[in-house]
Amino acid sequence: MAKNIEKLWGGRFAERTDELVERFTASVQFDSRLYRHDITASIAHARMLAHVGVITEADRDAIVKGLGKIADDIERGDFAWSAGLEDVHMNIEARLTEHIGDAGKRLHTARSRNDQVATDLRLYLRDEVDAIAGEILGLQRVLLDVAEREAATIMPGFTHLQTAQPVTFGHHMMAWFEMLARDRTRLSDCRARINVMPLGSAALAGTSYPIDREYTAKLLGFDGVCANSLDAVSDRDFVIEFNAAAALIMVHLSRFSEELILWSSAQFNFIALPDRYCTGSSIMPQKKNPDVAELVRGKTGRVTGNLLALLMLMKGQPLAYNRDNQEDKEPLFDSVDTVKASLQVYSGMIAALDVRRDVMHDAALRGFATATDLADYLVRKGVAFRDAHEIVGRAVRYGVESGKDLAQMSLDQLRQFWATIDEDVFAVLTLDGSVTARDHIGGTAPVQVRAAVSRARAALDAAG
Ligand code: ARG
Repeated sequence: MAKNIEKLWGGRFAERTDELVERFTASVQFDSRLYRHDITASIAHARMLAHVGVITEADRDAIVKGLGKIADDIERGDFAWSAGLEDVHMNIEARLTEHIGDAGKRLHTARSRNDQVATDLRLYLRDEVDAIAGEILGLQRVLLDVAEREAATIMPGFTHLQTAQPVTFGHHMMAWFEMLARDRTRLSDCRARINVMPLGSAALAGTSYPIDREYTAKLLGFDGVCANSLDAVSDRDFVIEFNAAAALIMVHLSRFSEELILWSSAQFNFIALPDRYCTGSSIMPQKKNPDVAELVRGKTGRVTGNLLALLMLMKGQPLAYNRDNQEDKEPLFDSVDTVKASLQVYSGMIAALDVRRDVMHDAALRGFATATDLADYLVRKGVAFRDAHEIVGRAVRYGVESGKDLAQMSLDQLRQFWATIDEDVFAVLTLDGSVTARDHIGGTAPVQVRAAVSRARAALDAAG
């Protein structure tokens, strides 16, 4: 039997890897995406090895130069990835040795693919977390603009999707802003745990070379080094944590999508989505479908599924590294791509939203949205809240039977339910009166919405 000549680990093997096994175990078709971070980490590792005298400066220089050339080749599309070389790490290392000879073979001193891949993944994810946080920020700024513009636009607020109380559209937009703000803090929380360096853990136990991990960590911009080598090569909790944060972002966007889909239907007609964010039907000429919102809602299933896949991938693993961990990449990459694309497409769509103020206003006039205001009015006249609730309930029943909203009833009609109701009741029964009255931090009054927008804008500007 032919020896495993091509394999970097072929020494102890007497027969070639089965072809199916080779294909089954290879990861290069997806982990080649890590090439930039793999090369960055290798350059830092080589610099550290020279710094502590494990390799010569000449070897270091050859390695740095050779890796630079490989990065260029890959970027130009001039790099033939080989499944026989399994993964991104061995493809790059083998090519380096082809280019620079023996110096290339020294790069893997004091390192294993186990700490290498964990390091690459953290570097990669650190960048992606920053990119995704940037996309969230972009969408948040769009929401602030819409909220400010629509601070006094009245719409029906819902609970149970039944008309509850009038709210302002700006206030509603600021609710989405708040959810995204928390999403961003979740990303920065998990970034702190991502940004710790596994390199130096080697296969599992550390290495017998006099390495300087702090030196490498500094070169790579890590906040510190992983304190335990077994843990460092093994756990992917940082990937899981990120995916949990990603799943929440998608769940938020999915709920937002559900509203856009409802609101843009002919039955609601609260908003119109820009044509360029919709598609038509191949059979029904009148159709304009909210596909972007629907797809974001649908893609939420993928990202949530990825989270579950990652949790299951981890749950049965004994310490330390196991090949199972290779399965972390596809779900992670898919979540990163999906969340990023969803956020990007969302910003443009929300910025171009056509808000149908009149329709929303008319809708708020139906459904007794100011019933709570009437009850609060009676409380101010000395009625206990529970009694006021009962009285207004009777007035609403009369309204349902007679087809009149509260504000359309005459003073005499209202006095059937409580004798001391005065003319001033009509001010509280209007939509404007209702929203203006909710004038405290977190309330829906237009002044509060504008204040919330400027506070939020100042905070975003201060954060850079
Ligand atoms: N492709 C592998 C992964 O993604 C790299 C580490 C392989 N380590 C090993 N001992 N086989 O996890």
